Amino acid sequence: MAQAPAATLTQNVLREGLILSRTPDPAVMVIFGASGDLTARKLMPALYNLALNRYLPSGFSVIGVADTPLSEDDFRAHMADAVRKFSRTQPVDRAVWQSVAEGLSYVRMPFDDLDGYGRLAAELERMDRERGTNGNRVFYFATAPQFFPVIVERLGASGIARTGAGWKRVVIEKPFGHDLKTAKELNHTIHSVFAEPQVYRIDHYLGKETVQNVLVFRFANGIFEPIWNRRYVDHIQITVAEDIGIERRGKYYESSGALRDIFQNHLLQLLSIAAMEPPPNFDADTVRDEKVKVLKSIHPVDVDNDVVRGQYGPGWVGGQQVPGYRQEQNVSPNSMTETYVAVRLKIDNWRWADTPFYLRTGKRLPSRASEIAIQFKSAPHQPFAKTAIQGMTPNVLVMRIQPHEGASLKIAAKIPGPVMRLRTVNMDFFYGSSFLVESPDAYERLVLDCMLGDPTLFAREDEVERAWGLADTIEDGWAGQPAPDFPNYPAGSWGPEAADALIERDGRRWRRP
Ligand code: BG6
Repeated sequence: MAQAPAATLTQNVLREGLILSRTPDPAVMVIFGASGDLTARKLMPALYNLALNRYLPSGFSVIGVADTPLSEDDFRAHMADAVRKFSRTQPVDRAVWQSVAEGLSYVRMPFDDLDGYGRLAAELERMDRERGTNGNRVFYFATAPQFFPVIVERLGASGIARTGAGWKRVVIEKPFGHDLKTAKELNHTIHSVFAEPQVYRIDHYLGKETVQNVLVFRFANGIFEPIWNRRYVDHIQITVAEDIGIERRGKYYESSGALRDIFQNHLLQLLSIAAMEPPPNFDADTVRDEKVKVLKSIHPVDVDNDVVRGQYGPGWVGGQQVPGYRQEQNVSPNSMTETYVAVRLKIDNWRWADTPFYLRTGKRLPSRASEIAIQFKSAPHQPFAKTAIQGMTPNVLVMRIQPHEGASLKIAAKIPGPVMRLRTVNMDFFYGSSFLVESPDAYERLVLDCMLGDPTLFAREDEVERAWGLADTIEDGWAGQPAPDFPNYPAGSWGPEAADALIERDGRRWRRP
């Protein structure tokens, strides 16, 4: 009998919850930027939690690479601290941590030092010999983005990217380029050493449980997809709201802004997933083909009419007085960088023609809330008295990405009593109460997928370039047009008035999640 094709991890997770039918091959993960924040806050806690849940293969090893003077023991102690501080599960299980720590080593070198790559190669060979990792490698770029090209080039020149048996994969953090031109250059550099199927571009939003759940809601239920279109949907609002400011990242943020930091990646990823056509299967390229089709179908943006930018001034968030953006560390006192952006998009295809998508993101908004809200049209006819339906609102399906992960559907219900009066109520699904398990961190899922060779939840070359093309159109529209009203929203408010006007012109309102 013919064998069924091997299922991808995504298929298995969709079908079986978190039961893995495959474990990754033994491998070495080389983390460039091992003494940095990302490694401590995200990567090492993710690896520890994967080990705790027995998802890591025996022999799995990590080589930290950085130019910080650390002995191997220092590095292990630093990583142990990081796991104690940042792991989502506490307290740390000593035996599990011990098993992870045994596979840790450290190579100190500047990222452009060819001799250093010689030492790294020797260390990799030692791991293969002693830990049975068979030449399988994940090269994880957790450095500042200016080092990405030189690391790729040196991995190629030293032969590490190709030597020996086993697979080689490369994980690249965001920002992937600064605009379309630099993203293309970076893709070109990477492809001079690694083929596209070896490249895993991280957008951590894709690793979030609820983002994947949008796919499940849409494609595993029979009832949503038939109404998921222009005939029944009035519009869609996608929000990534943050109450935090820019923290200590002034230098990076000044050259980025909300458009590059969140719109180009997280918001457009959410849009693609909400708007894509049902893929015939969950193969990485089939899913990504559908997402790219959405990006290709976006109607050209009229920057003057469809986009609003904002910058926060001083204000109050969560009962605390906070400085304005221009008063933050490493920010110019005359900065023109946007900390808020709202965009109205249209998608030119049969499903979505004339259905607006309103996307917004901002720092120092009143609360942290990321969601996709599908606003349905009103019922075509109301047989109830006007007084009975006063204050009623049309149906809304909200996919809450964070916090309070889950979904809710607003529906009309009769208020108990002898009189016919209706009210909008919520049907709620909360991850926490339905599954009674804590969701894994996005990085756990993504690191594991990479080790399993499943790039479904990573951005492909054409996806990233399309998204930059769109962001560039907006940046170009802004260029040479300073924003004289900056700062134009106080910290702790829902953004600039112009953003309200953008949606209210269409007779709609922003949600206040
Ligand atoms: C990052 C951005 O990609 O996402 C940050 O660079 C932002 O500015 C963060 O704060 C938000 O991620 P999350 O998972 O906290 O919503």
